[in-house]
Amino acid sequence: MKLKVENVKANIGSIVHVERSALLDDGVAENCLELLEARGVLVFPRIGLTDREQLAFTDRLGTRVNYSKFAPGGDADTPDVYTITLDAKINPEPEYVLGTFFWHMDGVIADMPPPKASVLSARRLAPKGGQTEFASTYAAYEALPEDEKAELAELRVIHSVAASVREFATPEALPADRRDRKKEHPLVWTHVSGRKSLLIGYTSDQVVGMPQAEGRALLARLLEWTAQPAFTYRHQWQEGDLVIWDNTGALHRVVPYARDSGRIMHRTSAANVEAVSQ
Ligand SMILES: [Fe+2]
Repeated sequence: MKLKVENVKANIGSIVHVERSALLDDGVAENCLELLEARGVLVFPRIGLTDREQLAFTDRLGTRVNYSKFAPGGDADTPDVYTITLDAKINPEPEYVLGTFFWHMDGVIADMPPPKASVLSARRLAPKGGQTEFASTYAAYEALPEDEKAELAELRVIHSVAASVREFATPEALPADRRDRKKEHPLVWTHVSGRKSLLIGYTSDQVVGMPQAEGRALLARLLEWTAQPAFTYRHQWQEGDLVIWDNTGALHRVVPYARDSGRIMHRTSAANVEAVSQ
Protein backbone atom coordinates (compact mmCIF):
# COMPACT_ATOMS: atom_id res chain seq x y z
CA MET A 1 0.00 0.00 0.00
CA LYS A 2 1.62 3.21 -1.17
CA LEU A 3 -0.85 5.60 0.45
CA LYS A 4 -1.56 5.98 4.14
CA VAL A 5 -4.72 8.02 4.66
CA GLU A 6 -6.04 9.79 7.75
CA ASN A 7 -9.46 11.42 7.52
CA VAL A 8 -9.75 14.88 9.08
CA LYS A 9 -13.51 15.40 9.38
CA ALA A 10 -16.50 13.18 8.64
CA ASN A 11 -17.53 15.19 5.57
CA ILE A 12 -14.28 16.59 4.21
CA GLY A 13 -10.50 16.35 4.20
CA SER A 14 -7.87 13.61 4.32
CA ILE A 15 -4.15 13.68 5.01
CA VAL A 16 -2.31 11.45 2.55
CA HIS A 17 1.12 10.08 3.36
CA VAL A 18 3.03 8.88 0.32
CA GLU A 19 6.70 8.93 -0.63
CA ARG A 20 7.50 11.72 -3.06
CA SER A 21 9.29 9.18 -5.25
CA ALA A 22 6.14 7.01 -5.43
CA LEU A 23 3.70 9.76 -6.40
CA LEU A 24 3.96 9.06 -10.14
CA ASP A 25 3.83 5.26 -9.77
CA ASP A 26 1.08 3.32 -11.52
CA GLY A 27 -2.17 3.37 -9.58
CA VAL A 28 -1.30 6.22 -7.21
CA ALA A 29 -3.09 8.96 -9.18
CA GLU A 30 -6.10 6.63 -9.65
CA ASN A 31 -6.21 6.04 -5.89
CA CYS A 32 -6.00 9.79 -5.31
CA LEU A 33 -8.89 10.45 -7.72
CA GLU A 34 -11.09 7.95 -5.86
CA LEU A 35 -10.16 9.55 -2.56
CA LEU A 36 -10.80 13.00 -4.00
CA GLU A 37 -14.33 12.02 -4.99
CA ALA A 38 -15.00 10.69 -1.50
CA ARG A 39 -13.14 13.25 0.63
CA GLY A 40 -13.09 16.53 -1.38
CA VAL A 41 -9.67 17.70 -0.15
CA LEU A 42 -6.38 15.77 0.04
CA VAL A 43 -3.33 17.11 1.86
CA PHE A 44 0.19 15.82 1.14
CA PRO A 45 2.21 17.28 4.02
CA ARG A 46 5.60 18.79 3.11
CA ILE A 47 5.99 16.65 0.00
CA GLY A 48 8.03 19.44 -1.58
CA LEU A 49 7.37 18.95 -5.31
CA THR A 50 9.14 20.96 -7.99
CA ASP A 51 7.00 22.64 -10.68
CA ARG A 52 7.83 19.83 -13.09
CA GLU A 53 6.83 17.16 -10.57
CA GLN A 54 3.62 19.03 -9.79
CA LEU A 55 2.78 19.25 -13.51
CA ALA A 56 3.58 15.55 -14.00
CA PHE A 57 1.27 14.60 -11.12
CA THR A 58 -1.44 16.95 -12.45
CA ASP A 59 -1.16 15.19 -15.83
CA ARG A 60 -1.82 11.89 -14.07
CA LEU A 61 -4.99 13.31 -12.51
CA GLY A 62 -6.42 14.44 -15.85
CA THR A 63 -5.73 16.65 -18.82
CA ARG A 64 -3.73 19.66 -17.77
CA VAL A 65 -5.60 22.96 -18.22
CA ASN A 66 -4.71 26.56 -17.66
CA TYR A 67 -8.02 28.38 -17.64
CA SER A 68 -6.49 31.58 -16.27
CA LYS A 69 -3.97 31.98 -19.10
CA PHE A 70 -5.37 35.43 -19.73
CA ALA A 71 -4.69 36.47 -16.14
CA PRO A 72 -1.42 37.88 -14.83
CA GLY A 73 0.87 35.56 -12.88
CA GLY A 74 1.96 33.08 -15.54
CA ASP A 75 5.55 31.96 -15.76
CA ALA A 76 7.35 31.70 -19.09
CA ASP A 77 9.38 28.65 -18.00
CA THR A 78 6.40 26.66 -16.76
CA PRO A 79 3.44 28.23 -18.55
CA ASP A 80 0.80 25.92 -17.04
CA VAL A 81 1.79 26.82 -13.50
CA TYR A 82 -0.14 29.80 -12.17
CA THR A 83 1.63 31.81 -9.46
CA ILE A 84 -0.71 33.14 -6.79
CA THR A 85 0.72 36.15 -4.99
CA LEU A 86 -0.20 39.68 -3.98
CA ASP A 87 3.39 40.80 -4.62
CA ALA A 88 3.14 43.44 -7.38
CA LYS A 89 6.75 42.73 -8.41
CA ILE A 90 5.77 39.19 -9.41
CA ASN A 91 2.15 39.79 -10.38
CA PRO A 92 1.54 43.18 -12.04
CA GLU A 93 -2.21 42.89 -11.32
CA PRO A 94 -2.41 41.56 -7.76
CA GLU A 95 -6.00 42.83 -7.48
CA TYR A 96 -6.99 39.78 -9.50
CA VAL A 97 -5.93 37.65 -6.55
CA LEU A 98 -8.07 39.53 -3.98
CA GLY A 99 -11.08 37.54 -5.18
CA THR A 100 -9.50 34.46 -3.58
CA PHE A 101 -10.38 35.95 -0.16
CA PHE A 102 -14.01 35.02 -0.89
CA TRP A 103 -15.66 31.59 -1.33
CA HIS A 104 -15.42 30.44 -4.92
CA MET A 105 -14.91 27.57 -7.33
CA ASP A 106 -12.06 27.91 -9.81
CA GLY A 107 -12.91 28.54 -13.45
CA VAL A 108 -16.71 28.85 -13.27
CA ILE A 109 -16.70 31.80 -15.68
CA ALA A 110 -14.10 30.34 -18.08
CA ASP A 111 -14.99 29.04 -21.55
CA MET A 112 -14.46 25.44 -20.48
CA PRO A 113 -15.92 23.21 -17.75
CA PRO A 114 -14.60 24.13 -14.29
CA PRO A 115 -11.47 22.03 -13.63
CA LYS A 116 -11.91 18.75 -11.76
CA ALA A 117 -8.84 18.96 -9.61
CA SER A 118 -7.09 22.10 -8.43
CA VAL A 119 -3.54 21.36 -7.25
CA LEU A 120 -1.84 23.91 -5.00
CA SER A 121 1.60 23.92 -3.43
CA ALA A 122 2.99 26.29 -0.83
CA ARG A 123 6.27 27.88 -1.87
CA ARG A 124 6.48 30.73 0.65
CA LEU A 125 4.15 31.32 3.60
CA ALA A 126 2.65 34.51 4.96
CA PRO A 127 3.65 35.20 8.58
CA LYS A 128 -0.03 35.92 9.31
CA GLY A 129 -3.15 34.66 7.50
CA GLY A 130 -2.94 32.68 4.26
CA GLN A 131 -4.65 29.51 5.50
CA THR A 132 -6.94 28.03 2.86
CA GLU A 133 -10.48 26.98 3.76
CA PHE A 134 -12.52 24.41 1.86
CA ALA A 135 -16.26 23.70 2.02
CA SER A 136 -17.95 20.60 0.61
CA THR A 137 -20.81 21.59 -1.69
CA TYR A 138 -21.76 17.90 -1.92
CA ALA A 139 -22.21 17.58 1.84
CA ALA A 140 -23.98 20.94 2.03
CA TYR A 141 -26.48 19.92 -0.64
CA GLU A 142 -27.07 16.46 0.81
CA ALA A 143 -27.86 17.90 4.26
CA LEU A 144 -30.51 20.35 2.99
CA PRO A 145 -34.13 19.56 3.92
CA GLU A 146 -35.94 17.75 1.08
CA ASP A 147 -38.45 20.57 0.52
CA GLU A 148 -35.59 23.05 0.08
CA LYS A 149 -33.84 20.71 -2.39
CA ALA A 150 -37.07 20.65 -4.42
CA GLU A 151 -37.25 24.48 -4.41
CA LEU A 152 -33.69 24.76 -5.70
CA ALA A 153 -33.96 22.06 -8.36
CA GLU A 154 -34.86 24.22 -11.35
CA LEU A 155 -33.05 27.44 -10.42
CA ARG A 156 -30.29 28.91 -12.56
CA VAL A 157 -27.62 31.37 -11.55
CA ILE A 158 -25.46 33.94 -13.36
CA HIS A 159 -21.76 33.89 -12.43
CA SER A 160 -19.83 36.98 -13.48
CA VAL A 161 -16.50 38.72 -13.05
CA ALA A 162 -18.39 41.80 -11.84
CA ALA A 163 -19.98 39.80 -8.99
CA SER A 164 -16.66 38.19 -8.05
CA VAL A 165 -15.00 41.56 -7.40
CA ARG A 166 -17.97 43.35 -5.85
CA GLU A 167 -16.44 43.51 -2.36
CA PHE A 168 -13.36 45.45 -3.49
CA ALA A 169 -13.69 46.83 -7.03
CA THR A 170 -16.17 48.22 -9.51
CA PRO A 171 -16.38 46.54 -12.92
CA GLU A 172 -15.02 49.75 -14.50
CA ALA A 173 -11.73 49.14 -12.69
CA LEU A 174 -11.24 45.88 -14.61
CA PRO A 175 -9.67 45.52 -18.04
CA ALA A 176 -12.33 45.75 -20.76
CA ASP A 177 -11.75 42.17 -21.96
CA ARG A 178 -12.65 40.74 -18.53
CA ARG A 179 -15.24 43.14 -17.18
CA ASP A 180 -18.27 41.66 -18.95
CA ARG A 181 -17.47 37.96 -18.66
CA LYS A 182 -20.36 35.93 -17.30
CA LYS A 183 -21.72 32.42 -17.41
CA GLU A 184 -25.07 30.84 -16.51
CA HIS A 185 -25.11 27.57 -14.54
CA PRO A 186 -27.73 25.50 -12.72
CA LEU A 187 -27.76 26.16 -8.96
CA VAL A 188 -27.64 22.41 -8.37
CA TRP A 189 -25.07 20.46 -10.37
CA THR A 190 -26.18 16.90 -11.08
CA HIS A 191 -22.94 15.03 -11.78
CA VAL A 192 -22.62 12.05 -14.12
CA SER A 193 -22.06 9.97 -10.95
CA GLY A 194 -25.59 10.90 -9.84
CA ARG A 195 -24.34 12.94 -6.89
CA LYS A 196 -25.50 16.53 -6.57
CA SER A 197 -23.67 19.63 -5.37
CA LEU A 198 -24.40 23.33 -5.02
CA LEU A 199 -22.80 25.52 -7.68
CA ILE A 200 -22.44 28.73 -5.69
CA GLY A 201 -19.80 31.21 -4.53
CA TYR A 202 -18.86 34.88 -4.70
CA THR A 203 -18.82 34.65 -8.48
CA SER A 204 -22.59 34.88 -8.34
CA ASP A 205 -25.11 37.35 -6.97
CA GLN A 206 -28.00 36.78 -9.34
CA VAL A 207 -30.63 34.05 -9.66
CA VAL A 208 -32.30 33.99 -13.08
CA GLY A 209 -35.90 35.26 -12.97
CA MET A 210 -35.73 36.30 -9.31
CA PRO A 211 -35.66 39.89 -8.05
CA GLN A 212 -32.07 40.78 -7.20
CA ALA A 213 -32.65 41.14 -3.45
CA GLU A 214 -34.28 37.70 -3.14
CA GLY A 215 -31.63 36.11 -5.34
CA ARG A 216 -28.78 37.63 -3.36
CA ALA A 217 -30.41 36.63 -0.07
CA LEU A 218 -30.87 33.04 -1.25
CA LEU A 219 -27.27 32.77 -2.47
CA ALA A 220 -25.94 34.35 0.73
CA ARG A 221 -27.96 31.91 2.85
CA LEU A 222 -26.70 28.94 0.85
CA LEU A 223 -23.10 30.15 1.21
CA GLU A 224 -23.53 30.47 4.99
CA TRP A 225 -25.08 27.00 5.13
CA THR A 226 -22.20 25.52 3.12
CA ALA A 227 -19.56 27.28 5.23
CA GLN A 228 -20.71 25.73 8.53
CA PRO A 229 -18.00 23.84 10.42
CA ALA A 230 -19.39 20.36 9.65
CA PHE A 231 -18.76 20.84 5.94
CA THR A 232 -15.46 22.76 6.06
CA TYR A 233 -11.74 22.18 6.53
CA ARG A 234 -9.14 24.90 7.14
CA HIS A 235 -5.62 24.10 6.01
CA GLN A 236 -2.75 25.60 7.95
CA TRP A 237 0.03 25.51 5.37
CA GLN A 238 3.60 24.42 5.87
CA GLU A 239 6.17 25.10 3.19
CA GLY A 240 6.20 22.28 0.65
CA ASP A 241 2.62 21.15 1.37
CA LEU A 242 0.60 20.05 -1.63
CA VAL A 243 -3.19 20.19 -1.47
CA ILE A 244 -5.58 18.86 -4.09
CA TRP A 245 -9.28 19.53 -4.01
CA ASP A 246 -12.28 18.46 -6.03
CA ASN A 247 -13.12 21.82 -7.57
CA THR A 248 -16.45 20.46 -8.81
CA GLY A 249 -17.63 19.60 -5.30
CA ALA A 250 -15.98 22.14 -3.01
CA LEU A 251 -15.61 25.87 -2.52
CA HIS A 252 -12.43 27.45 -1.24
CA ARG A 253 -11.12 30.78 0.00
CA VAL A 254 -7.98 32.08 1.67
CA VAL A 255 -7.73 33.83 5.02
CA PRO A 256 -6.59 37.37 4.09
CA TYR A 257 -2.87 38.07 4.14
CA ALA A 258 -0.83 41.23 3.58
CA ARG A 259 0.41 42.31 0.16
CA ASP A 260 3.97 42.41 1.45
CA SER A 261 3.69 39.03 3.22
CA GLY A 262 5.84 37.25 0.62
CA ARG A 263 3.23 34.46 0.25
CA ILE A 264 3.67 32.49 -2.99
CA MET A 265 1.59 29.51 -4.09
CA HIS A 266 1.84 27.54 -7.32
CA ARG A 267 -1.39 26.21 -8.82
CA THR A 268 -1.98 23.69 -11.56
CA SER A 269 -5.31 22.29 -12.73
CA ALA A 270 -6.62 19.06 -14.22
CA ALA A 271 -9.63 19.28 -16.54
CA ASN A 272 -13.01 17.81 -15.76
CA VAL A 273 -14.23 15.01 -18.01
CA GLU A 274 -17.81 16.26 -17.71
CA ALA A 275 -19.35 19.67 -18.27
CA VAL A 276 -21.77 21.20 -15.78
CA SER A 277 -25.21 19.60 -16.18
CA GLN A 278 -27.71 21.87 -17.96
FE1 LIG B 1 -9.19 29.61 -6.35
